[in-house]
Amino acid sequence: MTDAVLSVRNIRKSFGGIQAVRDVSFEVARGEILGLIGPNGSGKSTLFNCVLGQLKPDSGAVSVKGHDVAGTRAFRLNKLGVGRTFQQLSVFPEMSVLDNIILAGQEHRGTMLSRLFGAPDAGLTDEADRLIAFFKLAHLRDEKAGALSYGQQKLLDAAMAFMAGPDLVLLDEPAGGVNLTMLAHLKERLKSYNQEHGTTFVVIEHNMEFVMSLCTRIIVLAEGRIIAEGRPEEIRSNQQVIDAYLGG
Ligand SMILES: Nc1ncnc2c1ncn2[C@@H]1O[C@H](COP(=O)(O)OP(=O)(O)OP(=O)(O)O)[C@@H](O)[C@H]1O
Ligand SMILES: [Mg+2]
Repeated sequence: MTDAVLSVRNIRKSFGGIQAVRDVSFEVARGEILGLIGPNGSGKSTLFNCVLGQLKPDSGAVSVKGHDVAGTRAFRLNKLGVGRTFQQLSVFPEMSVLDNIILAGQEHRGTMLSRLFGAPDAGLTDEADRLIAFFKLAHLRDEKAGALSYGQQKLLDAAMAFMAGPDLVLLDEPAGGVNLTMLAHLKERLKSYNQEHGTTFVVIEHNMEFVMSLCTRIIVLAEGRIIAEGRPEEIRSNQQVIDAYLGG
């Protein structure tokens, strides 16, 4: 695949005696919504962190739009148009919804100088407001993030990954612990964003209904290895996948 937005080759990562990721390779094409599923502890978050520079893989290579990014810091990845969320919420509870999103935009741009010398919002308020409207958070714009429901905070957390108009967004369990109404809303917004902007997603998620109805392709990890890959309907009926979940 030459038009890969993300290419991951032979990634390995161990923690002491635990081989968390064992020789994983895959590519993601422009506009795809790739699901990454697997039982607890199968290496999904570790793989994300190796891709995004939070962890240094023991071996292997990662490229984003043809640029080798192994060992690259998050700031440079942002410049390449990569956004992400973490498995744990990373909103600032004492700050407003708007300020959380503006701060995410400043991090993406790395605008230290503009923070010192520019407008206090680094000119990001309009962009933040567009994103707030897109995720239907306008009625909560000036609320402290900590006052929002858990589901609303997860939505805000996801929205923060979209400042600076990324081409590729990696989401680690965006629907974890979220109620059904918010889950449907999040899925619908991600789908629309993908359709409107052609943005590529890689989504880790345990909620099967969410993954099956959102993703165009799914990769299944078990014990650090890819055990299956295919369209949602193929994955749903794959015996190895069923066994990995029941066994896990
Ligand atoms: N920083 C770390 N130090 C030591 N071991 C770790 C570390 N991070 C992950 N592990 C181990 O690596 C393995 C993979 O963990 P990882 O968090 O990647 O799994 P996961 O698929 O994201 O699981 P979950 O679905 O529960 O989030 C597990 O055995 C875990 O205990
Ligand atoms: Mg995880």
